[in-house]
Amino acid sequence: MSLDQNLNKILIIDFGSQFTQLIARRVRELGVFSEIVSHKKIKLKYINSSIKGIVLSGGPLNVYQINKYSFDKKILQLDIPILGICFGHQILSKLNGGRVKQSKHREFGLANVYKKNKSLLITNFFGNKKSKQVWMSHADQVSKLPKNFKVVASSTNSKFAIVENKKKKYYGVQFHPEVTHTENGKKLISNFIFLICKIKRNWSSKDQKNQLIKDIQKQVGNNKVICALSGGVDSSVVAQLLNKAIGKKLYCIFVNTGLLRKNEEVQVVQTFKKRLKMNLIYVNAENEFLKKLKNVSDPEKKRKIIGNLFIKIFERYAKKIKNVKFLAQGTLYPDLIESKSVTGSQTSKIKSHHNVGGLPKKMNLKLVEPLKFLFKDEVRKLGLELNLNKEIISRHPFPGPGLAIRMPGIVTKEKIKILKEADYYFIQSLRNHGLYHDIWQAYAALLPVKTVGVMGDNRTYEYLCLLRAITSEDGMTADYYEFKKSFMQTISNKIVNSIRGINRVVYDVTSKPPSTIELE
Ligand code: XMP
Repeated sequence: MSLDQNLNKILIIDFGSQFTQLIARRVRELGVFSEIVSHKKIKLKYINSSIKGIVLSGGPLNVYQINKYSFDKKILQLDIPILGICFGHQILSKLNGGRVKQSKHREFGLANVYKKNKSLLITNFFGNKKSKQVWMSHADQVSKLPKNFKVVASSTNSKFAIVENKKKKYYGVQFHPEVTHTENGKKLISNFIFLICKIKRNWSSKDQKNQLIKDIQKQVGNNKVICALSGGVDSSVVAQLLNKAIGKKLYCIFVNTGLLRKNEEVQVVQTFKKRLKMNLIYVNAENEFLKKLKNVSDPEKKRKIIGNLFIKIFERYAKKIKNVKFLAQGTLYPDLIESKSVTGSQTSKIKSHHNVGGLPKKMNLKLVEPLKFLFKDEVRKLGLELNLNKEIISRHPFPGPGLAIRMPGIVTKEKIKILKEADYYFIQSLRNHGLYHDIWQAYAALLPVKTVGVMGDNRTYEYLCLLRAITSEDGMTADYYEFKKSFMQTISNKIVNSIRGINRVVYDVTSKPPSTIELE
């Protein structure tokens, strides 16, 4: 429990919804500080005058299991504005004397809400329309309103889709305004914060940066911290945050696996050691990786070999540094959601992801994960605030196992050399044509097939290069990017004419699912 005593804030009481962090994120986007506290931990004594509004999240339980909610119910009767979302709406109604029952029609997905009455909460929410599309996800609903509450909007199945008690400043919404599927949902949250709680903007990337630095200093004290730096956005931001927080007590380890993009190792050393003056240990392990991967073609085996070797090297260097107590990782909030499977459903293993940050707990190091409640775009903003250059911040994601999983079949020095060049030409062309930032991720792969071609009247028999470029929000789903024919011709000619070893280029037009972004 670490409620900041001074900063005015919105308190979000978490009842276990998978969207709680998304609510916090929306509040941050609006420039206001928020703090999430689990319903299991919140106590009346923590509520002080810095809390200008309370949001009650959704949650998987129902209001009849109210005994499972150990929080002090008096919190919901204070003179502080409250916005209840989904389950939060139900519990707010129930505790104020209303009734909640199982819906006849469970609502999951899109629904329309219709305006019934005026309310500050819906200022400019409906615009000049009578209804708005919202995203519902509930089995129960409020069936009788508490005294002094009125209906603001209804859906076909939920009479009390938006409700208010104007005098107490209590508001409830049956749907989720925090998800993007709810049209104009952010406006509702903004109205709650600014018109109802009357809180002033007090939270920017700069504030966030300062707060994270303070938190790191508090957590690690005078101890040494190691950080696996890959040169990707997340580990770069973590490294720079720690650099600002603890300077030379931070030891970044950058392992050149030999499976990186062309010139990547040079760029990383230049940026972090030379420009940002970090304690950077550069490990050239090209030969070690190549040796271990010799004659291995099974994708999962490749991934495991690379992951394990990486850890071994990392441990070797961590031991050399001595007395290290902490390990910093660039875990983001979506990584936590995926690995925990918050919905409770069992997810099947598609690939063993090897993130260079995903190191074993048996190293007996405590974790420092300053980004674990942030989303990718927030991390990018933070990176800019930390003076990392745009080039690093806006880079396409790159997988831990690197080029090894972009060349199905065995990994050889020759193939790596060819692939590095092809990928380089492709990415450079994207940049030159101003397409790089329209694309979420792009790369070249080398397929383990040779095909016949003709160059200068001579027969060639060389590798097939596959290009992949996708659009995506978060890498969970993806669609292929539609290039103009002229671009495809240019890049195909460039690759085939400039690189010995490739005589044919194909473009991957599958989406994810059913495909994945990487080939292995
Ligand atoms: P897939 O291939 O699973 O990729 O659709 C989704 C995203 O994850 C990246 N990826 C990885 N990132 N370690 C990483 O750090 C890995 O082992 C790994 N495998 C895939 C991939 O590049 C894409 O952005």
